[in-house]
Amino acid sequence: MRFGIKTIEDFDVKGKTILCRLDMNQPVNRETDTLNSIVRIKACVPTLKELTEKGAKLVLMAHQGSDIEYKNFYCTRPHAKVLSELLGQEVKWIDDVVGPTARQMIKDLKEGEILLLDNVRYVSEEQTLFELKLHLSHEEQAKTLMVEKLAPLADLYMCDAFAAAHRDQPSLCGFEYVLPSFMGRLFEKEYCVISELMEQPARPCTFVLGGAKISDAFLMMETVLGNGCADRVIAGGVVGQVLLAAKGENIGSSSLDFIVDHGYGEYIEKSKATLEKYGDKIIVPVDLATMEGGERKEYKIGEIPADFNGMDIGEETMKIFKETIMTSKTVFVNGPMGVFEVDATEKGTKEVWDALGATEAYTVVGGGDSITATTKYGKTEQISYICTGGGALIRFLTGEELPVVKALRHAAKTF
Ligand code: 3PG
Repeated sequence: MRFGIKTIEDFDVKGKTILCRLDMNQPVNRETDTLNSIVRIKACVPTLKELTEKGAKLVLMAHQGSDIEYKNFYCTRPHAKVLSELLGQEVKWIDDVVGPTARQMIKDLKEGEILLLDNVRYVSEEQTLFELKLHLSHEEQAKTLMVEKLAPLADLYMCDAFAAAHRDQPSLCGFEYVLPSFMGRLFEKEYCVISELMEQPARPCTFVLGGAKISDAFLMMETVLGNGCADRVIAGGVVGQVLLAAKGENIGSSSLDFIVDHGYGEYIEKSKATLEKYGDKIIVPVDLATMEGGERKEYKIGEIPADFNGMDIGEETMKIFKETIMTSKTVFVNGPMGVFEVDATEKGTKEVWDALGATEAYTVVGGGDSITATTKYGKTEQISYICTGGGALIRFLTGEELPVVKALRHAAKTF
């Protein structure tokens, strides 16, 4: 038992059917039916190996895509393929989550075998909009379709999905109310590393925030500046543009449209208060880049054209951000600096990641896009710790008990 949660050591798993909730949510290439990054899947392997070697029968549950940010659900077929290669054994896959075929396959599993079910978010009760609208209690989640159909077929529940630990959904928080439950090795490691690090980060401690998940980024900024964990925050990506707009700078009508269309307009107003309180600790871009006629073009803040669409930070900003990273002792990174998937607008992200690779500071990278950038720029070995969680890491830093942690602690006391 660690942190009030049971671990693998607490159970004899031989011959047991274990429902395992993982987070293998990765960017998908729909044309080739493959994944653009497999970092999160790799991170799941040690726990799965340990459990199969001990003779357990594993039923894997995972989500792919979000109904809230991207409207981009996809099946888990490519994940089964990657897992089979990484584990060196067949991972069976079924395009079913709770139906009769899936249930029969679970019943037929033999010791050491693994079955991956399809995207759990194909079941409406697993969706984030459902969660946010209906706020089911954990006891209510234990009565949803997913739990009622699958729990009777299993002996144990295991959660290794630290990256989804901030979600309050039945496959994450419901099974703990009807089955003896424990966390996997990845969950244990992430929880441990992050809590130790947050207690006493080496100073100065810098948070690099970017990407387009504005609500997460602002929650993180407020938290780490408010509790003193961060000495300074670097803001790139859409986060930086929102802050520039809050300062009254022109960021161009296309940039503004993107922010408003994605429902983030309110953050321009909200971040005025953040800037007032912590303005001296927040570093925003001094220039931005866009694409014009297929070419990269940069403009200084103050000289941005009316219809500008910000897609990256500019060269001057890169220098400032790199210098700040190089003079830090701890650096947390969440989110890229711009549209790094496109050659012409990847430079800001690439330069920042180069600095992360070169600095002597303890570096932590979290979140799907940041992990993808780490792989793309070959920095996996140089980053001190890659946390699979983005949103989960952010909520963990706020000091609140994560829903999955609460559910696992409940199970530890109950069974
Ligand atoms: C993530 O990518 O942060 C996790 O997989 C959680 O995904 P979600 O934000 O769609 O719940």
